[in-house]
Amino acid sequence: MKRGANAKRVNFGIIGTGWPGQQHARVMGAIRDAFLYACADLDEARRRDFEASYSPRKSFGDYQELLADEKLDAVMICLPNFLHFPASLAALEAGKHVFCEKPPTINSAEMKLLQDEAAKRGLVYFFGRQFRFTPGMRAAKALMAGGRLGNIYHARATWVRSRGIPQGIGGWFTEKKRSGGGALIDIGVHALDSVWYLMGTPRPMSVSAQVYRNFEHLARDPVFDVEDAAFAFIRFENGAVVHLETSWAGNLPDDVPMGQYFGRESNNSVVYGTRGTIRLKPLTLFEDRGGVLETLPVALPDDIDSFELQLQNFIDAIKGRAPAVNDGEQALQLMKMIDAIYASSQLSREVPIV
Ligand SMILES: NC(=O)c1ccc[n+]([C@@H]2O[C@H](COP(=O)([O-])OP(=O)(O)OC[C@H]3O[C@@H](n4cnc5c(N)ncnc54)[C@H](O)[C@@H]3O)[C@@H](O)[C@H]2O)c1
Repeated sequence: MKRGANAKRVNFGIIGTGWPGQQHARVMGAIRDAFLYACADLDEARRRDFEASYSPRKSFGDYQELLADEKLDAVMICLPNFLHFPASLAALEAGKHVFCEKPPTINSAEMKLLQDEAAKRGLVYFFGRQFRFTPGMRAAKALMAGGRLGNIYHARATWVRSRGIPQGIGGWFTEKKRSGGGALIDIGVHALDSVWYLMGTPRPMSVSAQVYRNFEHLARDPVFDVEDAAFAFIRFENGAVVHLETSWAGNLPDDVPMGQYFGRESNNSVVYGTRGTIRLKPLTLFEDRGGVLETLPVALPDDIDSFELQLQNFIDAIKGRAPAVNDGEQALQLMKMIDAIYASSQLSREVPIV
């Protein structure tokens, strides 16, 4: 038994045992205060594999049964997007702290309800964005916190693939009613959040955007009614702007390198300031030194697993030791930007974010 009133371990339930669920289970053993208490998945074969690898104490098909367990303190929701809201709400109503994978929900109205529910019950809501905890992001954030970049006025957020429509895994990624959207809500949300986080999460004011579905001929699953690319220009209250480019599919030129799975692929963040610019991959500072632009590689601080640090922060937030880095208010602002991108595209004009 660990010492101190705050030393009780947190009993976790992982709901959805696909890739992200496995990542959370993998790092749980490394964290002093975490215990993998239970898992839930409708797919019995997947659940059995998960049990064999990570040995949760309990295992359920139906996540509602898992939520009814009084010993459970917190859940990590790794379900298809359309289930993020009902599962998060049910978990909060059952008195459990909630970690939910990205996208937090499929629209901002759902996220507002979750945020209100968590606040009403004094529970922690945390959305999954392990990229905020990578060594590169932490190093970039530390440089920016020290004012090294000066006044931040622009960022480019990019996650593009040439042949990377996710398919063959239940078909939900390409079906609007189950995914909430396509490339934007799947990988664009990561790219946007990375630069927004580095910029200090300024308040978004308006969006001009266009989304496209041009590559239906590459899709194999029965339904493909979401966008395969999105391009957006977002204005923030502090005068800064973000330029977002994301695609699952596109005829990308050869300056975008071939990736392992999805054809040509580039996933990067570049944040521009009056004194310097930071690029995430490879981590480099482009700094104005007396009018001369210098290129300075930045060393990574360590190689600590981003999933581990993310889970540690969730636990610290539950125990009141630190604020949640990926909190409900930021999840709400992020979903407002996503909503506005879809609305702007539909209306063919710039739309305000309120
Ligand atoms: N953070 C990341 O980098 C990252 C990476 C991949 C996926 N994700 C997110 O994680 C979520 C899941 O993605 P995935 O790729 O694992 O999807 P997936 O379809 O492979 O896995 C979802 C799992 O949920 C189970 N499931 C579905 N409905 C259920 C229900 N009602 N009760 C219990 N189990 C149910 C399925 O059987 C399946 O095993 C998505 O929201 C996705 O956006 C995040």
